[in-house]
Amino acid sequence: MTEKFIPLTDLRQVASTLPIPAILQPPNGLLKDTLARPLHDLRISVTDRCNFRCVYCMPKEVFDKNYLYLPQHALLNFEEITRIARIFVTHGVKKIRLTGGEPLLRKHLERLIEMLANLRTVDGKPLDLTLTTNGSLLARKAQSLKDAGLTRVTVSLDSLDDAIFKRMNDVDFSVSEVLEGITTAEAVGLGPVKVNMVVKAGMNDQEIIPMVRYFKDSPHILRFIEYMDVGASNGWKLDEVIPSAEVIRRIQDAGMPLTAIDANYTGETAERWRHADGSGEIGVISSVTQAFCHDCSRARLSTEGQLYTCLFASKGHDLRSLLRNAKQHSDLAITNVIAQIWQQRGDRYSELRSQHTDNFNPGRKKIEMSYIGG
Ligand code: GTP
Ligand code: 5AD
Ligand code: SF4
Ligand code: SF4
Repeated sequence: MTEKFIPLTDLRQVASTLPIPAILQPPNGLLKDTLARPLHDLRISVTDRCNFRCVYCMPKEVFDKNYLYLPQHALLNFEEITRIARIFVTHGVKKIRLTGGEPLLRKHLERLIEMLANLRTVDGKPLDLTLTTNGSLLARKAQSLKDAGLTRVTVSLDSLDDAIFKRMNDVDFSVSEVLEGITTAEAVGLGPVKVNMVVKAGMNDQEIIPMVRYFKDSPHILRFIEYMDVGASNGWKLDEVIPSAEVIRRIQDAGMPLTAIDANYTGETAERWRHADGSGEIGVISSVTQAFCHDCSRARLSTEGQLYTCLFASKGHDLRSLLRNAKQHSDLAITNVIAQIWQQRGDRYSELRSQHTDNFNPGRKKIEMSYIGG
C-alpha cells in the first residue's frame, strides 16, 4: 500500500451514523435545503472502477495495481439502489444519472436501468434517466441501454487528436472508438448526445476549436468544462483552468459567432450558446470561474451507498447501513432520514472557493470524483 493512498481510504470510511427521527412524516416532493434549494437530481455511482486513467481524475500513480477498489459485497446491489432511488423520487427527484468510475463496467447494468425506468416522478412522469460514460463500450451497449429504458447519454471526450487523447486517458484508447459510440448512441435514440470536454491548459486547450468545428452541424451538444479542484489526487492548479469566457472568445475569434440562449431548467450546470448560423448548440460549464452552487439541486450516492450533498464534500452519510440494518427500517424511516440530511444542507463549496482564489482550504480532504461520480 502506498502512502499516497492512505488518506483516500480513510475518507471513504468517514460517514456519520444516521438517527431515525422520532416523528415520521410522509414526503411531499417539495424538500428544500437551508438555502431553499430543492432536490431534483440524483447521481448514482455504480462502480468505482474505470478502464481509463484520465490524468485529471484517476492518475496512474494513485490508481495503480495496489489500489484497493471496493469489494463486491460493499457495493449497493440493484434492489438497494432502486429502493433508495424510489425514496429520492418521493422527495422531488426528476433526473437520475448513473456514473462511476465507468458505469458501463458494472455487470448487468441494463437490469438496473429497467428497474429505475419503472419509477415515476411525483407528477407521475417518467424520470430523465441518463448516464455519463467514457464511451469505450458505448457502441457495443447503446442498443441494449436504450431497450432497457435509458433516455439519453453524456459522453466524455477530451480531444479529437489521438496523441493528446491517449495522453489524457493514459491507457492508449483511441478517439475513433469513442466517436463510434457517440454515433451509435444517437442512432439508437439516446440523443441528443452531450459530449463533455474537460479543458486543461497546456494539455488539450488547442483542441477547443477542432472540437467545435467537428461537432458543429451534428446533433450532438459539445460542452467545455473548466478543470476543477475535485478530489485529492489530481494536483490541481488554478493556472491550469481555462475560463469559459476565454473558451467562448476563442471560438468567436476563430470565425464562429455564438449567441447566448436560455437555460433548459433552473440549476443547469451549462451555460448554453448557439452558433449564429443555426448549426447547433454548445455549452460551457464554469464550475471554477462562475460557480453555480446557488441553484445546486444535486445529491450523489456513492457506489457503497453513502450520500454526499456536494461534489466537494469530505464526509458522506451512510445510507447502506440503514438498508442493511437488522431492524429492517421502513421506507418511511429512510425517507425521513434523507429529508433531514437535505434540510440541513448548506454546501456551496465552489462559490466559497471562488471568493478565495489563493490556497483555499489547504489540506482539506476531498472525496475522489471516481468514487462519487461527476
Ligand atoms: P444535463 O442533465 O445534461 O444538464 O447534465 P449535467 O450537466 O447536469 O451533468 P454532467 O454530468 O454532464 O455534468 C457535466 C460536468 O459538470 C461534470 O462532469 C462536472 O465536471 C460538472 N458538474 C456537474 N455537477 C456539478 C456540481 O454539482 N458541482 C460542480 N462544481 N460541478 C458539477
Ligand atoms: N474537473 C472537471 N471535470 C471533471 N471530471 C472528472 N474530473 C474532473 C475535473 N477534475 C468530469 C468530466 C468527465 C466526468 C466523468 O467527470 O466531465 O467527463
Ligand atoms: Fe474514468 Fe471518467 Fe475518470 Fe476518465 S474522467 S478516469 S473516464 S471516470
Ligand atoms: Fe453543488 Fe457543491 Fe458543486 Fe456547489 S460545489 S454546485 S454545492 S455540488
